[in-house]
Amino acid sequence: MLFVGDLRHYRVETTLDSGMRLSIRAIQPDDKELLAEHFERLSPGSQYQLFFGFHGEFTRQELEYMANPNFLEHAAIVATVCDSEMDEHIVGASRYVALPDGQYAEFALSVLDQHRRKGIGSLLLLHLARLAEHWGVKELHADVLTSNRNALSFLGRRGFRSIGTSASVHGLSRSLASGSSALAVARPVGENAAGPAEKP
Ligand SMILES: CC(C)(COP(=O)(O)OP(=O)(O)OC[C@H]1O[C@@H](n2cnc3c(N)ncnc32)[C@H](O)[C@@H]1OP(=O)(O)O)[C@@H](O)C(=O)NCCC(=O)NCCS
Repeated sequence: MLFVGDLRHYRVETTLDSGMRLSIRAIQPDDKELLAEHFERLSPGSQYQLFFGFHGEFTRQELEYMANPNFLEHAAIVATVCDSEMDEHIVGASRYVALPDGQYAEFALSVLDQHRRKGIGSLLLLHLARLAEHWGVKELHADVLTSNRNALSFLGRRGFRSIGTSASVHGLSRSLASGSSALAVARPVGENAAGPAEKP
């Protein structure tokens, strides 16, 4: 059983297949600069996929809002790594914002381009869904550009289904009725960070 007090301190340490140590943790009020750095380090293409356009520098107020969710209808978690100087960096970020009745929550995910296909996006989605489920969210929704084949396939593999397309955006939805752990996807045996294992 998780308590709201705990969610502000939600933290899971893990080691990826590559051996990289990763922390998945609740965002903290003093993460504003790390978050700004994360969005700056996303490639222009990824920024476009995330914001549906090019977002300039975030204002103080925007960063304040993003780093201070209430962990009820608004929650955010980040994936971080430490560099050789033991300075922490955000390699992945995710958040949901739910309707007051918890009927559904809109969410978004971003992982730095050079850290893709290591399982970070899957972990963020799983833990974000866990927090959303705990607060009583019934469904997760995401809007994804129709040109963003990568995210469409990523979410499709995790049970998200189309709830409509308008202009160049697909609405995707997934119920949490079967539990957030149902979002975990098994990878075929032998698949590794470098791609599918070569046949002998
Ligand atoms: C969509 C996005 C979040 C996915 O992040 P990611 O960290 O690459 O996600 P994962 O590594 O967990 O999964 C990607 C694929 O790599 C595979 N994978 C995971 N670990 C792996 C590993 N060690 N070796 C090889 N493949 C691996 C996963 O199985 C998955 O494939 P699948 O969808 O066929 O199951 C990322 O591409 C992104 O930030 N895109 C830009 C922003 C965006 O489009 N956001 C919209 C979503 S709301």
